[in-house]
Amino acid sequence: MSELLAAVVHDSGEEELERSLRPRDLSDFVGQERVKEQLSIALEAAKARGEALDHVLLAGPPGLGKTSLAQIVRNELGVGIRQVAGPALERKGDIAAILTSLEPNDVLFVDEIHRLNRAAEEILYPALEDFRLDIIVGQGPAARTLTLDLPPFTLIGATTRTGLLTTPLRDRFGLTFRLDLYTPVELAAIVRRSASILGVEVAEDAAELVARRSRGTPRIANRILRRVRDVAEVRHQGIVTTAIAEESLTLLEVDGAGLERFDRELLRCVVEKFAGGPVGLSTLAVALGEESETIEDVYEPFLLQLGFLQRTPRGRMVTDLGRAHLGAIPDSSRLF
Ligand SMILES: Nc1ncnc2c1ncn2[C@@H]1O[C@H](COP(=O)(O)OP(=O)(O)O)[C@@H](O)[C@H]1O
Ligand SMILES: [Mg+2]
Repeated sequence: MSELLAAVVHDSGEEELERSLRPRDLSDFVGQERVKEQLSIALEAAKARGEALDHVLLAGPPGLGKTSLAQIVRNELGVGIRQVAGPALERKGDIAAILTSLEPNDVLFVDEIHRLNRAAEEILYPALEDFRLDIIVGQGPAARTLTLDLPPFTLIGATTRTGLLTTPLRDRFGLTFRLDLYTPVELAAIVRRSASILGVEVAEDAAELVARRSRGTPRIANRILRRVRDVAEVRHQGIVTTAIAEESLTLLEVDGAGLERFDRELLRCVVEKFAGGPVGLSTLAVALGEESETIEDVYEPFLLQLGFLQRTPRGRMVTDLGRAHLGAIPDSSRLF
């Protein structure tokens, strides 16, 4: 996976930077207007009542602002937050320990909540519904259930796939928001905001160029901005112009539509090995040597948005638009 796209999936080495660029409150959070409007009403109402906010489910591809929104909710409510990754909660005891450590109205942020296991999920149900924890003590005929009262809290779940959540879990979220890929105008605003935080001077049209090449994803926009800044500092005088942005994007092999090498490989693979499709996701994944989940979460959303790829009941197909794009791009990054 390329460095740029690795940034979408996970970016542990740069968490520090990510934190500094993270919007702090709703007014700082660019785009997703409908989400912000509904969330701000819910926040205001919860604050006025002095109650915990309803449980919130945030769904959408990586890098679109799910973790940021969870932090914003916590800031707006002025409460504490506990953050865990779904797969890390293996045993009932793990969840029980976290739940009993919460203060009233705190936020519990569970990332990748679709990867929570059954046992963890089951202990969550009564906790979410009645702020109650049922613990079984002892074994066999002597076993009894102890019920612990929990402080009211807000679960914020983040997922790249709502489809993988069990229905009972999904039903326990009072607020469900789906984040969409960002428009170039919104991404340009994010680039300008990040540039000012990083102290980089970026020409207006250069910000727009980076925005159009960021596959609808703020995290990628920030990542490209940093690469562009490097080029500007090393090879030029420091100010990011369109020419410098172009130079950096060429180095990163990001083409005019914002596709990277692997996106083009994916399209080319469908066209050349599977006659344009339809081809099933798992077959395609094997042919490309990539995980199905990564293809679905990281690569496809943008290709679908551009109309280069189609999902049909019989599999993936490359559209005429996608073929035309491949035809217009020199074949330097061919794999097949
Ligand atoms: N709406 C937004 N406005 C401004 N910056 C954003 C927005 N959404 C995401 N970002 C930036 O992108 C980065 C990644 O966002 P994050 O919340 O970690 O995404 P996710 O949790 O969905 O993968 C953040 O550090 C932040 O700088
Ligand atoms: Mg996240």
